[in-house]
Amino acid sequence: MIRILDTPEAVYRAAAWQWMKAALDGAPGIIGLATGTTTTPIHKIITELYAAQPFDTARLSMCAVDDYVGIPEGNIAGCGERVRRQLVRPLGLSAEQVLLPDTFHGEDAPEKYERAIEARGGIKLQILGLGRDGHIGFNYPGTPLNSTAHNVTLPQSTKDTLKRLYALPEERMPTLGLTLGIRSIMMSKAILVAVTGRDKAQTVADALRGPVSERMPASVLQLHRDVLWLLDEEAASLL
Ligand code: F6R
Repeated sequence: MIRILDTPEAVYRAAAWQWMKAALDGAPGIIGLATGTTTTPIHKIITELYAAQPFDTARLSMCAVDDYVGIPEGNIAGCGERVRRQLVRPLGLSAEQVLLPDTFHGEDAPEKYERAIEARGGIKLQILGLGRDGHIGFNYPGTPLNSTAHNVTLPQSTKDTLKRLYALPEERMPTLGLTLGIRSIMMSKAILVAVTGRDKAQTVADALRGPVSERMPASVLQLHRDVLWLLDEEAASLL
């Protein structure tokens, strides 16, 4: 389903309420998070709702769709750290309520992460942002559509974003990321994609109206039966 809203703020609000619905539905399973510039304001709205009217978070379980390899805890550039700062602490959650990939130990970390998610009943709602090249999580163009969690060499565009947003110096720049795969994302019961801005309008049109192809990872979402696209008018302008 596609919902087109007037403004980016309306997209963030609608996404926050979808998160709330999943958080409060009492059903087993995890809420999967992305940590980009689109999801930051969504998380902020969730914490504002919680601050105004605290709700029961005892059964809440969340995970991150991806993280950079080797960024230590405490560094805001890390996706896990952003999950901690943006949601875990403001909502008063325990560390056990949040699954994050172990990006320091072992080649089997992706597989272990995938299994840990399965053991908690899988992902009931995966929230995604959309990269300008069509990536979801760190599944960049060319990622096999049947991929499970894996390590990935980060493209220059992602390193440039890290440098711009978090002033990460070259010597501390990660070269690898760990991401749930496209198949792992497709196993989620429901998926929400939040996209704002004219610079992603062509990507949105290709993902929703173009062929399903590894060259446009988000196009695979056409094959999922419960996807909600929340778009502002600019992101939807080429549909
Ligand atoms: C980050 C992630 C990425 C972002 C995507 C869009 O955890 O999974 O796929 O969602 O790069 O990022 P923004 O929202 O910053 O444009």
